[in-house]
Amino acid sequence: MKMEMATYYSLSAAVLLLVISGTTTTLVTATDHIVGANRGWNPGINYTLWANNNTFYVGDLISFRYQKTQYNVFEVNQTGYDNCTIDSAVGNWSSGKDFIPLNKAKRYYFICGNGQCFNGMKVSVVVHHLPSPPKAAVAAEHSPTKSASPPSVLLDWGLCSLMVSIVLVRFELNWI
Ligand SMILES: *[C@@H]1O[C@H](CO)[C@@H](O)[C@H](O)[C@H]1NC(C)=O
Ligand SMILES: *[C@@H]1O[C@H](CO)[C@@H](O)[C@H](O)[C@H]1NC(C)=O
Ligand SMILES: *[C@@H]1O[C@H](CO)[C@@H](O)[C@H](O)[C@H]1NC(C)=O
Ligand SMILES: *[C@@H]1O[C@H](CO)[C@@H](O)[C@H](O)[C@H]1NC(C)=O
Ligand SMILES: *[C@@H]1O[C@H](CO)[C@@H](O)[C@H](O)[C@H]1NC(C)=O
Repeated sequence: MKMEMATYYSLSAAVLLLVISGTTTTLVTATDHIVGANRGWNPGINYTLWANNNTFYVGDLISFRYQKTQYNVFEVNQTGYDNCTIDSAVGNWSSGKDFIPLNKAKRYYFICGNGQCFNGMKVSVVVHHLPSPPKAAVAAEHSPTKSASPPSVLLDWGLCSLMVSIVLVRFELNWI
């Protein structure tokens, strides 16, 4: 009986750890999306292809890496993006290594403000709401297609449910 109790307590501890790690994982999954990946923020790159290859969530960062003597970054509206104008600018950055938080679920538009926008230095990204873990698990069950939720969250919750079931089974075996 002593051994069984020890097993039970260690399993409970494991579940507790998993729950805690699951919680922290969902809190710290913010991603830094480096525009252009290793090609950075430069002329002659199709950033639509780069943006289509990334999924952006509220709380993520978008970061621009470039020669600060040559380029810069302006956040504009759709008109500014389409026409390469900065009249609508709501922010501008020029450090050469700018980290910009994507705090809202909406479409963002960034362009280079020195004329290089016409050479492709423009990028538009759609930022999605971060799905809450239980909803994500339900969504995954109901849709076989690739869901918009980060797989790490699903994995953590899957593991948690598994461990909880194991403990419940052990609990019944020992106590009834
Ligand atoms: C960039 O790629 C997208 C998607 O393939 C395409 O629609 C767009 O015309 C391209 N832009 C340029 C400037 O080539
Ligand atoms: C898309 O992502 C994959 C994997 O990270 C990478 O190999 C590929 O080069 C990317 N394509 C573009 C256009 O960024
Ligand atoms: C944007 O450019 C288009 C043509 O390139 C023009 O018709 C339109 O008036 C411009 N919009 C603004 C707000 O300047
Ligand atoms: C963008 O901002 C400009 C200047 O404030 C404005 O004239 C234009 O209508 C805006 N475009 C959109 C799509 O909101
Ligand atoms: C860039 O942003 C600063 C505030 O951070 C503002 O004072 C300045 O007018 C902006 N520049 C342009 C060209 O919009």
